[in-house]
Amino acid sequence: MGFMEIDLSGQTAVVFGSGKGIGAVVSEQLAQAGAMVYLASRTEANCIKVMEKITENGGKASAAACDVSDIEQVNEVLQKAEEETGRLDIVINNAGIDCVTPFVECSQEEIMRVIMTNQMGVNNGLQCALRRMKKYGHGKIVTTTSFAGRRDLPHGNGFGHYGMTKAAVNYLTQTAAFAGADYNINVNAVGPGIVKTKMWEDILDTDEADGKNREQTWEEYQKKYIPLARGAQSHEDIGYMMLFLCSKYADSITGQVIYVDGGASTD
Ligand SMILES: NC(=O)c1ccc[n+]([C@@H]2O[C@H](COP(=O)([O-])OP(=O)(O)OC[C@H]3O[C@@H](n4cnc5c(N)ncnc54)[C@H](O)[C@@H]3O)[C@@H](O)[C@H]2O)c1
Repeated sequence: MGFMEIDLSGQTAVVFGSGKGIGAVVSEQLAQAGAMVYLASRTEANCIKVMEKITENGGKASAAACDVSDIEQVNEVLQKAEEETGRLDIVINNAGIDCVTPFVECSQEEIMRVIMTNQMGVNNGLQCALRRMKKYGHGKIVTTTSFAGRRDLPHGNGFGHYGMTKAAVNYLTQTAAFAGADYNINVNAVGPGIVKTKMWEDILDTDEADGKNREQTWEEYQKKYIPLARGAQSHEDIGYMMLFLCSKYADSITGQVIYVDGGASTD
């Protein structure tokens, strides 16, 4: 017999950065829980593929192109969701890009690129969602951060400017939680450790170009970062925590960063 069931039937959810990776799977999970999901990502074709998968499985979804670094585009997606469904219950700020260039060598252009998506993109999602959700007197906002936002590592290239943006995301989570508190809007962040998405494939590609064995390198990364023996996290592992934070069971949780990282961020 089950106990806690997550039912989001009748709710409207918007997921930024949902064309692939963690965001795509979280969108599928939200739809399975009954929500109408608005997918928004840089590449519309990817969102359409996720939308088709959701609808084939009996869920409800809509897809649009959106660059989160442009606040107008973020606002338009939220507006469309609200106009079509008459509500806005859940916003997931998941869009993010990596930055693997070592700290000292990273160009101004590259630093600005990672700031504009990871930091400004989240800022835009938080500001627009709070402005729109206030009138309903309830809402759940979840942002994807990273264990890299908690501390840098003394070996390899470290997390550099990527970690810097995720530390900013952690801070914004608190600020937005205080801003939303009077309106019963919960704002939290989930920090994955390692999930084998395009982001990691790109890192492995770079290592492979340096003559390293791809599978061996992947194993080494897991051992280096993740204390828990089961290793890397699945896309679903991250989604379970996000769904929990979007559910009634998390009504008393706000301003928190919760790491789903196999212990990677543990001091
Ligand atoms: N994969 C990991 O190990 C890991 C670990 C910690 C944190 N994260 C975080 O998880 C989130 C998702 O990453 P992922 O691993 O699934 O990556 P991914 O590259 O597989 O997917 C990222 C998604 O975000 C979209 N996106 C990127 N820039 C965007 C922009 N400017 N506007 C709109 N959409 C944009 C992409 O199009 C894609 O759909 C990111 O915030 C990332 O920093 C990932």
